Amino acid sequence: MSRRWSESDVPAQDGRTILVTGANSGIGFEAARLLAGRGARVLLAVRDVAKGEQAAASIRAGDDGGRVDVVALDLADLAAVEAAADDVAARVDHLDVLVNNAGIMAVPYRQTVDGFELQFGTNHLGHFALTGHLLRLLLAAPQTPRVVTVSSGAHRIGAIDFDNLDGARGYDKWRAYGQSKLANLLFTLELQRRAGDRLLAVAAHPGYAATNLQPRSAQASGSRLGELAMRLGNVLLAQSATAGALPTVVAAAALDVGGGEYLGPSGPFEARGAPTRVGRSAAARDAETAARLWAASEELTGVRYDALEA
Ligand SMILES: NC(=O)c1ccc[n+]([C@@H]2O[C@H](COP(=O)([O-])OP(=O)(O)OC[C@H]3O[C@@H](n4cnc5c(N)ncnc54)[C@H](OP(=O)(O)O)[C@@H]3O)[C@@H](O)[C@H]2O)c1
Repeated sequence: MSRRWSESDVPAQDGRTILVTGANSGIGFEAARLLAGRGARVLLAVRDVAKGEQAAASIRAGDDGGRVDVVALDLADLAAVEAAADDVAARVDHLDVLVNNAGIMAVPYRQTVDGFELQFGTNHLGHFALTGHLLRLLLAAPQTPRVVTVSSGAHRIGAIDFDNLDGARGYDKWRAYGQSKLANLLFTLELQRRAGDRLLAVAAHPGYAATNLQPRSAQASGSRLGELAMRLGNVLLAQSATAGALPTVVAAAALDVGGGEYLGPSGPFEARGAPTRVGRSAAARDAETAARLWAASEELTGVRYDALEA
């Protein structure tokens, strides 16, 4: 039977520093809480500092407590992403793990500060830029650092539309979400190829987990009924956010996880259950598309991974 992990497979994280994006809510919050509880110093990278401080206070006051600090990060603004990385560099001399978790789902067409389509810009390009800016800190880690990127089963409905990355020639909110989540997997593939044994690039997905993602998505589309349906679905059908965070936590910390792997729930439709290695679409394994997406991401963000060239 294929490997299944549980919380007890997460080793002590004392002395390790881990940054989690979108750590004030849902999967990011639960992953931060679990990792801090195991002894890691966790940097909660959030776009709303007040929400971040609230999350930090709740983690510190929890049963396992932990050392947590808040970093301001808006992934939909490249200047803010660079400023966040500078802030991190002023506080720590290395990073052991970066968890690229923050995300938005199926929102109406909008643009980031830099004019990117909002889902591609936030879920993929923002994290591409952040990882590039933090690369030197990651490579300074005493043991092999990890970059964990949170994707979704929805990557299967995605294709990278290179002629329409900004959505200007037509926009479908679900296709755009699928594209951004496919980009998360292609990023992991190409990052691992470029990094060789210098870092582990791992992907994870939470299955169907009760978070703010689904109600927020309906809210953004102005559907009160949709929002209620999403909240009901979360109560009746979804697994808990804690269970949903486990694939991410395992990807960040378990010892028997390899570069390029993709972890998700082991239950039916990968919707719930203990973390295991899961499959991905053929598009997510396409090395040529991964390299082309990397080049496009460098071009759009202006961020280059020079530390990997050395
Ligand atoms: N929940 C699921 O069933 C599910 C399934 C598949 C994949 N996922 C993936 O899991 C990840 C986490 O989502 P979640 O379910 O935990 O949703 P969530 O509860 O809505 O959390 C999303 C987080 O991302 C943050 N965020 C959004 N835009 C941002 C920006 N521009 N800059 C910085 N942070 C930003 C949010 O901040 P605010 O609170 O300030 O908005 C929040 O902290 C996402 O990548 C999502 O695609 C979730």
